[in-house]
Amino acid sequence: MNTILVGAQWGDEGKGKIIDVLTEEADIVVRSQGGNNAGHTVEIGKEKFVLHLIPSGILRAGKKCIISNGVVIDPVALVKEIEGLETRGIKLAGRLLISETAHLVLPYHRALDEQRELRKGRNKIGTTKRGIGPAYGDKAARTGLRMIDLMRPKSFSAKLKSRIEENNAILKSLGGTPLNFREVEKAYLEAGKRLRPFVINSVVWLHEQLEKKKHILFEGAQGTFLDIDFGTYPFVTSSNTTAGGSCTGSGIPPHRMDRVVGVMKAYTTRVGEGPLPTEAAEIGDMLHGMGREFGATTGRARRCGWFDAVATRYARVVNGIDELAITNLDGLDTLKEIKICVAYECRGKRIAYPPNDAEELLHCRPIYRKFAGWQKDISGVRSYQKLPKATQKYLTALADLTGAKLRIVSVGPQREQTFDA
Ligand code: GDP
Ligand code: IMO
Ligand code: MG
Repeated sequence: MNTILVGAQWGDEGKGKIIDVLTEEADIVVRSQGGNNAGHTVEIGKEKFVLHLIPSGILRAGKKCIISNGVVIDPVALVKEIEGLETRGIKLAGRLLISETAHLVLPYHRALDEQRELRKGRNKIGTTKRGIGPAYGDKAARTGLRMIDLMRPKSFSAKLKSRIEENNAILKSLGGTPLNFREVEKAYLEAGKRLRPFVINSVVWLHEQLEKKKHILFEGAQGTFLDIDFGTYPFVTSSNTTAGGSCTGSGIPPHRMDRVVGVMKAYTTRVGEGPLPTEAAEIGDMLHGMGREFGATTGRARRCGWFDAVATRYARVVNGIDELAITNLDGLDTLKEIKICVAYECRGKRIAYPPNDAEELLHCRPIYRKFAGWQKDISGVRSYQKLPKATQKYLTALADLTGAKLRIVSVGPQREQTFDA
């Protein structure tokens, strides 16, 4: 069974937690897109881990994890993440593998990310400033450097020198600070040396595992509405965060995939700029008041809103979602009344899909259906049958309106706070 897991909303749906749960049944977990803009949280007992580049499956002993070709890797950040896990007793040798064709994020990508955001002013995207956009830009422009380059120090240095010269000129013209070649070279070659034992031809390795009938789990990063093609462009990230990204980002063909699991919160959140039709202060204030919904990567407060079924229905179609994992249901415990957006009203017309123009989306007004709250602490519940009837009704509505089968329910950040529907 090969499973693709995707975020069905704007990211931070709880993918890390659900991956940790599903890894129990898998042999290999693959991260196939995005970079260290991601922040995937897994809580095990008193321990809390936030993973940025390394698949969340790494926390289960014996499982193999691979960062495949579609990911953009900041080698210095990756070394830091590896060391952070090793200090906490997580063994990585022989378990973590890195694709030699993954592209590198370089310091000029981060500097350009920052400068472009500054220049956009009020129209900024609100990026994580990890250099993700410029790194994927270089990949598409065929001016990127890859892990395989970093493994060849001599030619890497020559390529880096010419890339830094060009990017310094651009940086200067944008008002940024030029980079020192020697400093970057030293830091990157050191990181390269540290990463060398992990670097492999990931396509060949993954296909060998398929031959051995190993179960592969693909860990999506970001969410459907941050997808470069299907998201609220330009307020998106720079990779395909939807199901197809797992194929192009790993070299595993579509017909070898068996199911797609969509993770969604029982409400909506977004971090960064761009339209969010169901944004509502009433739910945001409540969640922030509980100390929840602060970004795992940048610490920014996430914008919050009611569950948007127009969005998740679209996510179901684009990803081919078969099964749903619904998280953070306990976040709604105190509410007397809960709303679900079932359609948009856009310039006097009722529409059932999100318009492609982010500008147009700003003019969409959500049409809500109201549900009774359960007003009970459900974080201790461990089976679907034990959930209050009002909670079951709400979950059924989320699944029916999205159009996929409810499979997993999550009522807290811990592994055990999860059960099948
Ligand atoms: P990801 O990027 O999709 O992996 O999600 P994040 O880790 O960025 O954000 C999800 C947050 O919700 C994390 O703090 C998780 O620990 C937490 N979380 C996940 N599922 C649940 C749940 O069912 N209830 C509660 N209370 N927290 C949850
Ligand atoms: P996970 O995997 C939530 C958002 C940023 C910004 C936009 C572009 O944890 O769900 P970028 O740095 O990628 O160029 O920023 O995308 N963003 C995320 N939002 N969760 C994420 O990852 C995100 N990764 C990027 O906030 O709006
Ligand atoms: Mg996150």
